[in-house]
Amino acid sequence: MSAFFHICFSVLLLLSSPLLVKSLSPSLNDDILGLIVFRADLQDPEGKLNSWNEEDDSPCNNWVGVKCNPRSNRVSELILEGFGLSGKLGRGLLQLQFLQKLSLARNNLTGSLSLSFTQLSNLRVVDLSENGLTGSIPSDLFSQCGSLRSISLAKNKFSGPIPESLGSCPTLASVNFSSNQFSGELPVGLWSLSGVRSLDLSDNLLEGEIPKGIEGLSNLRAISLRNNKFIGEVPDGIGNCLLLRSIDLSRNSLSGKLLSTMKKLSLCNNLILSKNGFIDEVPEWIGEMRSLETLDLSENNFSGQVPESFGKLQSLKILNVSKNALTGSLPEGISKCVNLLALDISHNSFTGNLPSWVFSLGLEQVWFSDNQLSGSVDNAFGSSMENSRKKLVTLDVSQNKLSGEIPSGVGDFVSLKFLNLSRNLFLGSIPGSIGQLKTLNVLDLSDNHLNGSFPSEIGGAISLHELNLEKNSLEGNIPLSISNCASLMSLSLAHNEITGSIPTSLSKLTYLQTIDFSFNKLTGSLPKQLANLVHLQSFNVSNNQLQGELPAGGFFNTIAPSSLSGNPSLCGAIVDRNCPTVLPKPIVLNPNSTDDTAQGTIPQSFGRGKKILSISALIAIGAAAAIVIGVIAITVLNLRVRGSTSRDAIALTFSGGDDFSQSPSTDGNSGKLVMFSGDPDFSTGTHALLNKDCELGRGGFGAVYRTMLKDGRSVAIKKLTVSSLVKSQHEFEREVKKLGKIRHPNLVSLDGYYWTQSLQLLIYEFISGGNLYKHLHEDSGENHLSWNERFNIILGAAKGLSHLHQMNLVHYNLKSSNILIDSSGEPKVADYGLARLLPMLDRYVLSSKIQSALGYMAPEFACKTIKITEKSDIYGFGVLVLEIVTGKRPVEYMEDDVVVLCDMVREALDEGRVDECVDGRLQGKFPVEEAIPVMKLGLICTSQVPSKRPDMGEVVNILELIRSPLESQDELGDF
Ligand SMILES: *[C@@H]1O[C@H](CO)[C@@H](O)[C@H](O)[C@H]1NC(C)=O
Ligand SMILES: *[C@@H]1O[C@H](CO)[C@@H](O)[C@H](O)[C@H]1NC(C)=O
Ligand SMILES: *[C@@H]1O[C@H](CO)[C@@H](O)[C@H](O)[C@H]1NC(C)=O
Repeated sequence: MSAFFHICFSVLLLLSSPLLVKSLSPSLNDDILGLIVFRADLQDPEGKLNSWNEEDDSPCNNWVGVKCNPRSNRVSELILEGFGLSGKLGRGLLQLQFLQKLSLARNNLTGSLSLSFTQLSNLRVVDLSENGLTGSIPSDLFSQCGSLRSISLAKNKFSGPIPESLGSCPTLASVNFSSNQFSGELPVGLWSLSGVRSLDLSDNLLEGEIPKGIEGLSNLRAISLRNNKFIGEVPDGIGNCLLLRSIDLSRNSLSGKLLSTMKKLSLCNNLILSKNGFIDEVPEWIGEMRSLETLDLSENNFSGQVPESFGKLQSLKILNVSKNALTGSLPEGISKCVNLLALDISHNSFTGNLPSWVFSLGLEQVWFSDNQLSGSVDNAFGSSMENSRKKLVTLDVSQNKLSGEIPSGVGDFVSLKFLNLSRNLFLGSIPGSIGQLKTLNVLDLSDNHLNGSFPSEIGGAISLHELNLEKNSLEGNIPLSISNCASLMSLSLAHNEITGSIPTSLSKLTYLQTIDFSFNKLTGSLPKQLANLVHLQSFNVSNNQLQGELPAGGFFNTIAPSSLSGNPSLCGAIVDRNCPTVLPKPIVLNPNSTDDTAQGTIPQSFGRGKKILSISALIAIGAAAAIVIGVIAITVLNLRVRGSTSRDAIALTFSGGDDFSQSPSTDGNSGKLVMFSGDPDFSTGTHALLNKDCELGRGGFGAVYRTMLKDGRSVAIKKLTVSSLVKSQHEFEREVKKLGKIRHPNLVSLDGYYWTQSLQLLIYEFISGGNLYKHLHEDSGENHLSWNERFNIILGAAKGLSHLHQMNLVHYNLKSSNILIDSSGEPKVADYGLARLLPMLDRYVLSSKIQSALGYMAPEFACKTIKITEKSDIYGFGVLVLEIVTGKRPVEYMEDDVVVLCDMVREALDEGRVDECVDGRLQGKFPVEEAIPVMKLGLICTSQVPSKRPDMGEVVNILELIRSPLESQDELGDF
């Protein structure tokens, strides 16, 4: 009683319900109290126990899961299965003195089993399966077993040994300790459970030999020791458990021969011995176990033949002898096993023909793979009854030596889901009747000698997931009807002689993951729509005769080049080959178009009815608001050398450019001016004026003004319009100083810079001769550039660019308006490397903000997966070369067409009239032997594939060779 009072007291505290004890009769009191205490130890997230009201007189009527003995009115059953309860098994249970059945299966109970149920002397059934209980079982748990009949602890996390005390429960009929982590050897006392009918110790870590004396379990019906670590032989006493119906010893390390005492087990339905180390022949006496329904001897070391006596197993439904070393032919006797449904003899060395009974018994599953079966299957198919054909679901005879044709009767097996005839010697053609197999999921006919065409009837097999016809000699086209197999996920036709093109309709098979058409004779191009196959993981068309451009997007952006190899006429960046005819156009707009949807993606507000709106124009318009219009005056107030990092730099203080103030400003608005040259003339009270009238031009980065310093020297000042994008001052200065160090006769040098948070100026040497664009396209009349001047410009620009690339700088923005011509006609490349001033060298920034050069843009700017490198400059250079030679803009707008310069020259070259492309103003005044190689060089530089373009050093060399034409010609090869 002291325990009772203790519990009672805690409950009172717990529930703060002083009424509890008041009105109850003493006996009921125990049950209600016990249940409430029990509940107090649990969490009940679903409120399943809400009906347990402690103010009720009795738990017997309305309490969920509680049943009482009607005569005694005491709780006899507590069944709380799958209630989602968690928490511990509390002591409250011990109050339920009349409890007979306790089931807490399928909850989330945790903690260890510390209660001794045996105090509950009436308890018969305990089911704690499928919880999260842990710890070992107290050794005395079963020491006073009372009347316990059935205990299940299955699917918990119990560990430690199985207690010896279990043997002292004479009344136990069912023990289920399956799926825990019990370890150690089996207690010998276990065999004294003479009443036990069912013993399930499967899926634990038990080890050692199975102790002798098992015949003590004289009532045993079912035993499972599956998936433990038992070794040694099966004790022969097992043959004396005459009532055994089910024996599962699979997945252990048992060894030795099968003991003949087992033949006495004439009631046994299931004998499962798979995955052990049993040896010797499959004993003849198994035929005496007349009740066998399932016999599984797979994955052992059985050898010899399957005994004829198996024919006596009239009840047999499942026979599995796979993965042994069995030989000989299949015994005719099995044909008498009229109830057989599944027969697995795979992975043995059976010989002989496919017996005809295989198809007449009405089998559902036939697994014969990896044996030495030979001969034709005609007979076997032919002899089957229509009824029995309808039952076959799985037929796997792969990896044998079967020959002859595939009988057209195969179409009668209308329930087939899995048909594998691969790796045999079948010949002839695939019967069209295959199309009658409407439920077929897998068809594998690979690695045979099949010829003829791939039958269009395949479209009837509408449930196919996997179709494998590889390694045959099939001819003809891929039938269009394949698109009816809407569930297809895997399709292989590799290593055949298939011709024709890949049907576009394949792209309708949206579940496709794997396609293998390699090593065939497919022609034509790859349908673009294949890029719509979103689940595609592998697409192998290597070694065919496919041509044309690859589909773009989706899987095809990342396809492995090896999947495409061996198709000499496929083209595109991934196969590293130019597409000669179908070139992607640069981003262009038809200036006169009023149709907004025509081309490009320029917003309407900019596009409609205006003149040419290149991206550069858009940038200019977009930036206009930010450009200070009018005059910006910068006055150098005083000179004060700061602790500049640049050795020879001089820092000056300017008034801020933002406020137009000419008056001396205070610190807040002052910026930092750095001149790299440290030219003393410049340092004295310089006055610089950025005047709208002196604007030299505008680019993606900003406007350029010419201005005169007080010493009379001219400089070009570029006012960056990308301020908001510019990096931090520190990074900006670092990059600018890097650019400032670059000196080359063909590069415009950067002399200094000015920095404030909101205004950045770059100070360049002033080049008097204007830019190449004006010379080429705006100079009229007799003033045009001669051939020699043009060649010099090309060579000079090439040298400048080559120097840049040697310094690991990418120009990013090459175009004719960025080539300045000095007073002696020497070209100087301007505006290089400015993209480095932006925070991200991102292609979107590049193409949308800076790459203003219509027609000069390398195709990879439009392709996310290719890196922008020096090779992108070389594309622009190639366009520039063509522009200089032809005098035409990279993109010209004609009557109703947009002409892209490199396409035009390439076509002319193909048609052998390339010399007609040379600028009309030069006609008769240029050496053909120089002009044509130069144009070819320009075309090579504009290869679609970056790796095909030469590097700038090579370009310079080639140009110099062209100048002395004797050695030059073969350098360029055939284009
Ligand atoms: C048991 O708990 C886990 C997580 O703690 C939860 O996901 C699961 O649903 C619970 N099971 C039941 C039967 O309540
Ligand atoms: C043992 O319990 C598990 C889990 O509840 C169950 O799947 C298994 O069938 C039981 N074993 C026997 C022999 O009843
Ligand atoms: C566009 O219009 C201009 C002026 O009307 C005209 O000179 C030019 O040929 C036109 N271009 C095209 C492509 O229609």
